[in-house]
Amino acid sequence: MKRADFQGNIVGEGDDIAAIRPISLRAMSDADADRATALSAEMGWPYRSEDWRFALDLGHGIVAECAGRLVASALWWPYGDAFATCGMIIVSSSMQRRGLGRALTTNLLRDMGERTILLNSTREGLRLYEALGFESVGTVHQHQATTSADTAVSMSEVGDIRPAAPFDLRAILELDRCTSAVVRRSLLTELTRVGATAVIERNGNIQGFAVCRRFGLGYTIGPVAAKSVDDAKALILHFMRRKAGEFLRVDTPGDSGLSSWLAAVGLAEVGSVTTMIRGHRPDPSTAARMFALASQSLG
Ligand SMILES: CC(C)(COP(=O)(O)OP(=O)(O)OC[C@H]1O[C@@H](n2cnc3c(N)ncnc32)[C@H](O)[C@@H]1OP(=O)(O)O)[C@@H](O)C(=O)NCCC(=O)NCCS
Repeated sequence: MKRADFQGNIVGEGDDIAAIRPISLRAMSDADADRATALSAEMGWPYRSEDWRFALDLGHGIVAECAGRLVASALWWPYGDAFATCGMIIVSSSMQRRGLGRALTTNLLRDMGERTILLNSTREGLRLYEALGFESVGTVHQHQATTSADTAVSMSEVGDIRPAAPFDLRAILELDRCTSAVVRRSLLTELTRVGATAVIERNGNIQGFAVCRRFGLGYTIGPVAAKSVDDAKALILHFMRRKAGEFLRVDTPGDSGLSSWLAAVGLAEVGSVTTMIRGHRPDPSTAARMFALASQSLG
């Protein structure tokens, strides 16, 4: 079997050295976004080049090139010094099973240092990540549909929901921190800048928030964090009503208990991934829970 060494050269028993096509690994830049979009499209993943740029602006990436072609990618996002997520780890079909995925992920792990790392793995990735010390800790369920106007309109609106104002960011960050034990300031600042954000407020206290932004084939609702499942549902319905007729996606953790409800309100489950952690698992507070992710990669 051929494998990629640390410099990314494809090596293997019996190779004619002259025939080896060098693979270069380098930092990803904005200029790679269009070719990365083509790479993810090859996997049937619906990222737009804007989604790649948004993800890269918030984190760091590595790409592999072979004969001028972008053949692999891997990104990671720091949330302080103790925690990170990684994702968008893709190896072009023609280059798979030669050690390239392992070489890229090993490079990411080195860059992430001592941080605890969370990722959401497809079935193909499980063996690679297990071999690199990740443990399965849960699931994420992908729900999506072009919603019909009828579904959302038939749901009554909760009166306590309002658009978020800039001064809500502090409460939003605090709720988000409760769900993950991590402060994700840059992520939430950017999400609330590019997306529409709604909060539920009662007696002057923010009980939950949700962000809805352009992503992939349409819009995604997430993150959604709330102190109760009913408030999380109300926030999701709020955006379903506003985006009636649009393609909507929600990635919900298995332990949120929302999966069957999402299907019942018209967002069918189309797949799931396995949440994996490497390192010390953060200890979130029980004051609020995460009901939908910003994305499977960003967490
Ligand atoms: C997952 C992926 C990145 C692996 O890249 P790769 O270059 O093929 O992986 P490597 O050759 O470095 O192999 C690493 C390990 O994963 C295993 N592996 C690779 N592809 C696999 C697959 N399709 N099914 C099961 N195991 C697989 C290999 O057997 C290897 O394990 P081993 O060293 O014990 O033999 C690649 O298959 C891919 O891009 N898949 C589609 C996109 C995707 O699902 N990405 C993961 C997102 S979290």
